[in-house]
Amino acid sequence: MNGSTPIKDRRSELAFAPKELSTEVLLELFDAARWAASSYNEQPWRFYYAKREAPEAFISVLNLLAEGNRVWAKDASALIVSAAKKELHRTGKQNFYAMHDVGMATANLMIRAAELGLVTHPMGGFDHELMHETLMMDDTEYPVAVIAVGYKGNVAALPPELQKRLNAPRVRSSIESFTFDVNDL
Ligand SMILES: Cc1cc2nc3c(=O)[nH]c(=O)nc-3n(C[C@H](O)[C@H](O)[C@H](O)COP(=O)(O)O)c2cc1C
Repeated sequence: MNGSTPIKDRRSELAFAPKELSTEVLLELFDAARWAASSYNEQPWRFYYAKREAPEAFISVLNLLAEGNRVWAKDASALIVSAAKKELHRTGKQNFYAMHDVGMATANLMIRAAELGLVTHPMGGFDHELMHETLMMDDTEYPVAVIAVGYKGNVAALPPELQKRLNAPRVRSSIESFTFDVNDL
């Protein structure tokens, strides 16, 4: 895959411009999420969102992030908390693929955001227990990640260590290192 594509252009942004995100755009992102594949089409994802124009909600999610994430996530337009439904609707048994499928939906959301010229940054660095409580989740679901979504901000205005992180080359393992031809095993 050469050249620019939303998949390659997406990166975990650190420079956000503190602007509002319209409900229309947010819905466009959730629409991308909902077309993800899922085991038994269970669609075990849930997305809680806090928009910056609702400061009380926004800050309640922001405050649960790790300190290192709060520094830049405070300028996001929305903080989206993904969650997984633990059990299969059809049988009540554990959905082994719940986390996988939440990831599928989240990837769709982030790639659609990139297509729309938005920036995102997923985070696992937050207090999961308190998030569960704050968002009034019951025992059938658990929070997976927080995704900061917004508009590209001014990199030069970031603290030097964050600028350094953003300017560092993006590193990926080679395709050969994680793919295996079964015929060669
Ligand atoms: C589930 C998950 C949790 C992550 N948690 C954090 C986090 O807490 N803080 C952070 O700065 N980045 C976090 N990241 C971003 C990764 O560090 C980033 O995706 C990785 O370094 C690759 O960089 P890229 O997304 O810019 O391609 C997380 C990413 C994922 C998918």
